[in-house]
Amino acid sequence: MIYSRVAGTGSYLPKKIITNHDLEKMVDTTDEWIRTRTGIERRHIAADGETTVDLAEHAARQALAAAGVAPAEVDFIAFGTTTPDLVFPNCGTLLQKRLGCRGAPAFSLETACAGFMYALSIADKYVRCGEARRALVIGAETLSRITDWNDRGTAVLFADGAGAVLLEPSAAPGILSTHLHSDGEYKDLLYCGSGVSTGFGSKLAISMVGSEVFKIAVTKLGQVVDETLAANGLERGALDWLVPHQANIRIIQATARKLEMPMERVIVTVQDHGNTSAASVPLALDVAVRDGRIRRGELLLLEAFGGGFTWGSALIRF
Ligand code: UT7
Repeated sequence: MIYSRVAGTGSYLPKKIITNHDLEKMVDTTDEWIRTRTGIERRHIAADGETTVDLAEHAARQALAAAGVAPAEVDFIAFGTTTPDLVFPNCGTLLQKRLGCRGAPAFSLETACAGFMYALSIADKYVRCGEARRALVIGAETLSRITDWNDRGTAVLFADGAGAVLLEPSAAPGILSTHLHSDGEYKDLLYCGSGVSTGFGSKLAISMVGSEVFKIAVTKLGQVVDETLAANGLERGALDWLVPHQANIRIIQATARKLEMPMERVIVTVQDHGNTSAASVPLALDVAVRDGRIRRGELLLLEAFGGGFTWGSALIRF
């Protein structure tokens, strides 16, 4: 049986940082409110002209270097983003041109904050069935472009960044399972209400009913982590690390409680990154791999929840 394994990770954050104190000068908010209600202290924002694919290219090259794989060897690109550079070509093929891996299938998918989980799940299937051997999985966003900087309900949350992993075939797992879900009934709680076929008639900005999203996120993430443990015959104590979506420290704490995991075993980057949507999980993973917390052989649970709603998990023997 072939599995896929994470051969390398990478990430990138744009240079410009906006602190909570900077936001105090922009909207009616306080550093204290943002820290206590979300856990966020600062976030990175792309420079003028810096695009999602620009961020992704840095992350991808890092993941490839970590895996010891040349860019031209990549034979599959799955790219999660809701902030693409262009309507088309998709971000996967734009990245492919930069990397020079011509001919390989490359695509992007727009499942909001769960974009990386969906991309990872698809890439895992292609590696497992033998159709891909060097699969690049990206989560990258320039959410600052669809943030209303006058809306304190969202401006304090969202940010920019990119994360990447390179998957390779392996005789041993590897990715043990992925679970994906969506429920379009919740569209009105979190959406960006402008687009191509609606003629860009309304404002290109994120709308969110935060407190409702919060409650449903906690419930659905609790269910998907239970589903993941049950599908793998695991007890709660079996995990080494939780690598959660970084939307709100209180949502992360609720999932950790559900898993009976101490916060020391949870990778938390929300204070430095804010909510980078599809980039959030691979960014957190790369931070913890590079600082030496996550080591080879350890058992990781990744999860994310976002607009749609879409949500999912991955259980990984790293
Ligand atoms: O990644 C995709 C999924 N997204 C999420 O998971 C986000 C989920 N939601 C959340 O993280 C939280 O709901 C928020 C951080 C967005 C909001 O926190 P909350 O504790 O749910 O606050 P709330 O919306 O219930 O608002 C409480 C109060 C309100 O004032 P009143 O009505 O009590 O007077 C808001 O107007 O806080 C006010 N408020 C703010 N005050 C200062 C809302 N935003 C701000 C702000 N600064 N930025």
